[in-house]
Amino acid sequence: MLAVAVLAAGKGTRMKSALPKVLQPLGGKSLVERVLNATDALKADRRIAIVGYCSDQVRVALADYPHLEFAEQAEQLGTGHAIQQLLEPLADFEGELVVLTGDSPLMRTETIQALIDSHRQHKASATVLTALLPNPTGYGRVFCDRDMKIERIIEHRDCNPEQLLNQRVSTGVYCFDWQELAQALPKLTTNNAQKEYYLTEVFDYLKSVYANDLEDTDESLGINDRIQLAHAYDVLQKRAREKWMRAGVTMLLPETITIDDEVELAPNVIIEPHSHLRGNTKVGSGSIIGPSSMLSNSTIGENSAIQFSVVEDSQIADNCCIGPFARIRGESIVGEKCRIGNFVELKNAKVGDRTNAAHLSYLGDATLGKQVNIGAGTITANYDGFKKHQTIIGDRSKTGSNSVLVAPIQIGENVNIAAGSTLVENVGDNSLVIARAKQVVKPDYYNQEGRKK
Ligand code: UD1
Ligand code: CA
Repeated sequence: MLAVAVLAAGKGTRMKSALPKVLQPLGGKSLVERVLNATDALKADRRIAIVGYCSDQVRVALADYPHLEFAEQAEQLGTGHAIQQLLEPLADFEGELVVLTGDSPLMRTETIQALIDSHRQHKASATVLTALLPNPTGYGRVFCDRDMKIERIIEHRDCNPEQLLNQRVSTGVYCFDWQELAQALPKLTTNNAQKEYYLTEVFDYLKSVYANDLEDTDESLGINDRIQLAHAYDVLQKRAREKWMRAGVTMLLPETITIDDEVELAPNVIIEPHSHLRGNTKVGSGSIIGPSSMLSNSTIGENSAIQFSVVEDSQIADNCCIGPFARIRGESIVGEKCRIGNFVELKNAKVGDRTNAAHLSYLGDATLGKQVNIGAGTITANYDGFKKHQTIIGDRSKTGSNSVLVAPIQIGENVNIAAGSTLVENVGDNSLVIARAKQVVKPDYYNQEGRKK
């Protein structure tokens, strides 16, 4: 049997934040969510989050997380005290307990699994995931013999200057034989610099404890302050970019590009500098994103180009040319071979194939047919101050420059709207419509000096 416990009760004083540390966001997910995600594939029989500081908030944030129990650590008296809270819920449990800290979001599933495997091989009382860090400041130092058997773990603040030179640290990830740990937990003291119950003190009481060094030391990063938070984001982004470049995506100046975990990119996508792909975004083969575009929760087809633009919660089909400086949002759907140009905003707009809106338009709550041409400055006036209304434009219709379509309104197919028109009524198929004041010219109105005659 396997149980997993995640320590998530601490306040995170060094963050200087109103939010409990484990709920700090990192690339669209909280720190603790990332830790839990890494344990999903372990298929543990029990999984327990130990909560305490702002526990209501943490419980709510994790309420929908599958197969997760909570244990309450009402007062935060240290990591050892946190694990003591498991004595009751795990009273009848037999097997291994894997412990992770809720502030180590870079830990990989394979690493945790390898720790469990090594622990089982050694038939150990406990196995500690350790790392050799060039700068071990802040971490507990692990002292072990040649066979990697651990003698002691001493917290940074309790080390003497010589002990501080030891670069082998505890990552805060452990695999314990639960029954042996349960025997040792009541022995913990607060004889240390922080006057806390340290989990690391149990290694003084356990028989055979092994250290298992990490290969990729980035995984050990514990987030205690915002500098480490920024560093963790950097590491996550580097991982994501490398993964996609290996999968056939070209990136120019990759360090200026950010990509969320859920994003899916086809081979032969090109991402130009300063572009950001967020949430559940998909991009098809041959498309070029950027420079300087942001896509979130959107799907882009094949061979489309999105330049200097923002696309949110929308879909763009194949062979489209978007931007520069377009904003597409509110579940808009753009068909094939469309051009949505500079300073055009689409909001909840459905755009048929080969339709163009090349400059300076707002198209909101609108349905545009195929091969429509939207003249520069066309506005759908969708809001009457109370409600939003729909505009419908039929296939092959054209709006003149500076047309205002006051919704609700329906324009038929093959309609031509004269420039500067303000339309308030529906227009049937094949019409020319002019809805503006007639031009009045008064010739010879001024004298040579520019005065009225
Ligand atoms: C801890 C380890 C240290 C290790 C480091 C790795 C101890 C005593 N120290 O130090 O050896 O190198 O992690 O990152 O274990 N928490 C609780 N209840 C508490 C206190 C803390 O749930 O009473 C939780 C925190 O929310 C956090 C985790 O435990 O998720 C670690 O606590 P933190 O204070 O960050 O420990 P470190 O000083 O980093
Ligand atoms: Ca920490």
